[in-house]
Amino acid sequence: MTDPQIVLTERVQQALAHAFGSEHADADPLIRPSQFADFQANVALSLAKRLRRAPREVAEAIKSELSDFPGTVEVSGPGFLNITLDDTWIAAEAQRMLTDPRLGVGTITPAQTVVIDYSAPNAAKEMHVGHLRTTIVGDSLARLHEHLGNTVIRQNHLGDWGTPFGMLIEHLLDIGEEAAVAQLEAGMGTEFYQAARVKFDGDEAFRQRARSRVTTLQGGDPTTMRLWHVFMDATVRYFNKVYELLGVTLTDADIAGESMYNPMLDKTCDDLEASGTAVMSEGALCVFPPGFTGSDDKPLPLIIRKSDGGYGYATTDMAAIRYRVHDLKADRILYVVGNEQTLHFKMVFAAAKLAGWLPDSVSAEHIQIGMMLGKDGRRFRTRSGESAKLMDLLQEAIDRATAAISERGYDEATRNEIARHVGMGAVKYADLSVSHDSEYVLDFDRMLAFTGNTGPYMQYATARIRSIFRKAGIQPADATASIVLAAPAERALGLHLLGFGELLMQITADAEPHRLCNFLFQTASLFSTFYEECPVVKAGVDPETRDHRLALCALTLRVLETGLDLLGVPVPERM
Ligand code: ARG
Repeated sequence: MTDPQIVLTERVQQALAHAFGSEHADADPLIRPSQFADFQANVALSLAKRLRRAPREVAEAIKSELSDFPGTVEVSGPGFLNITLDDTWIAAEAQRMLTDPRLGVGTITPAQTVVIDYSAPNAAKEMHVGHLRTTIVGDSLARLHEHLGNTVIRQNHLGDWGTPFGMLIEHLLDIGEEAAVAQLEAGMGTEFYQAARVKFDGDEAFRQRARSRVTTLQGGDPTTMRLWHVFMDATVRYFNKVYELLGVTLTDADIAGESMYNPMLDKTCDDLEASGTAVMSEGALCVFPPGFTGSDDKPLPLIIRKSDGGYGYATTDMAAIRYRVHDLKADRILYVVGNEQTLHFKMVFAAAKLAGWLPDSVSAEHIQIGMMLGKDGRRFRTRSGESAKLMDLLQEAIDRATAAISERGYDEATRNEIARHVGMGAVKYADLSVSHDSEYVLDFDRMLAFTGNTGPYMQYATARIRSIFRKAGIQPADATASIVLAAPAERALGLHLLGFGELLMQITADAEPHRLCNFLFQTASLFSTFYEECPVVKAGVDPETRDHRLALCALTLRVLETGLDLLGVPVPERM
C-alpha cells in the first residue's frame, strides 16, 4: 500500500499503542493534508483530554515513537503533529507504482459479486436524457468494480412489458412491420408511442384490439410474442446505437427487462401472501413495511397485485430482488436509478427484508441519480418542450466539438474521430464530475470548454503527455529511469499520485465516481505546474534529468489513462 495517508495512519497508530497502551491502537490519528507540512495529525489534542495530560506533551510522546520514520515530525501550536515525508521515500513509492502493472491498485478480497442495475430505458418511449446519467454513472461503477477484482453482473432492467404493449403491437400491425421497424430503429419510439396513443384515445375499435392484444400477450400467444419481439428487437437495436456511440459496456447479454420476470410474478405474490408478508387490502395485495406512512399517518402499502389482478412495477422489483439474491448470488446490488424513485426502492428493500429475501449479508443500495436540468433550472427539455431525445443531444455535442477543432488542420476522418471522442467525453465527464445525487445543469459551453474540470481538458492533458513522448522519441512504457523528485513541483505531483489506489478503493465502496474526476483534475493541474517549471524535452535539459522526468510523465500518463478509462471517458491520441 503506497497511499501516504494510510501508511501514516498505521505508523501513528503503532506509535500510540507504544506510548499509551494497545487500547489506543485503533484510534483515528486524524491525519489530513496540511498547508504547513505534507500532513497534520490532530490526535494528540483529543487524546490529551482523555488522558488528562497536556496536549503538547502527548504530541511529543507520539513524536518520540516515530524515530525510524521516513520523514520529519514536528510538534506545533497547541499539539499538532506536522509530518513531512522524505523525498526519497515518495520517489521510491512512485517508482514502485510505475513498475507495478496494477499501478499500486489493490484488489478487493474476497471478491464480491456485484449486481448493477443501470440504464434501464423504457421501450414504450424514446430513450430520453433522463436515462443518460443512469447509463453513464452505472457504467463507470461497473468498470470500477471489475477493475478491483469484483464479479460484476450488469442488469439492464428495460421497461419492455405491460399494458402499453397491446396498443404498440396493434399500431405496428397498422403501419406494417417494415415501416415500424424502420421508425423504431431510427429512434422515433416516442412518435410511435404517441401515434398509438392518439388512436387508443379516439378510436373505439382500436382500443378493443389493443385490449385483447394485452390478453394474448400475457397469455404468451406465439403470434403476439413474435410481434412483441419484432418491436423489441428494433427498439434494442436503437438503444445499442446509443450505447455504442457513448462507449458504454452494456450488451444484449445484459438485458434483463421487466418481461423476464413475468413468469415469476404469480409465484412472487403467492409466496408473499403465504408467508403473511403481503395481505389483502381494499382488494389489492399489499406489503406494509413498517415505518412507512402516508400524509394521513396511515401505513403506506407497496402494492404487488392491483385490485384488477394486474401486476405493476413493484411486483417486478420484488421478483427481481429475489432472483438477484438467490439466483445471481449477489453480495451487493446497486440500483442506479433517478432519485424520484427513492421511496419505491426503500419500500422494496424493506419488503424484501420482511419476506426474508434480502439477508443482512447482502447490501441493496439505491444509487440516486439527480435530475439533469436545462439552463432555466427546470427539467431539461428541447425547444419544443418535449422531453429531449438522447441521440439529438449527443449529436449536438459532437457537432459543437467538430466546430471547436475545425481550425486545427486535421483531415476529415481524423477530425470526425477526435470530435466524437471530445463530444462524448464532454457529456460523460460532465455527468460524472458532479456528485451523482445532485441535480446538474446541462450546459454545452461549459462541458465542452478546454479549461476547468471538463472532459476535453482531461483529454487534452492526457494527449499532451503523449505528445511529450512523441517529441522525446520513446514509448511511455520504455520510460523506466528512476523517478527523482528534486523540484517542488515534481515532489507535489509524485506525492499526489501515490493516493490513486486508495482513492479507487474508497470511491468504489462509496459509489462516488465524481471523486475520481476531482483526483484526475488535480493530477492534470499538478502536471501543468510541473511541466511549466521542469522542462522535459527542451534543449539544455541534461539527459539524466530528462529521463527522470520522463519516468514521472509516464506515471502521470498511466494514472490519467487508467482513471479516464474507469470513468468510460475516451482519450483521442492527439487533440
Ligand atoms: N425503467 C425504469 C424507469 O425508467 C427504471 C428501472 C430501474 N430498475 C429497477 N429495478 N426498477 O424509470
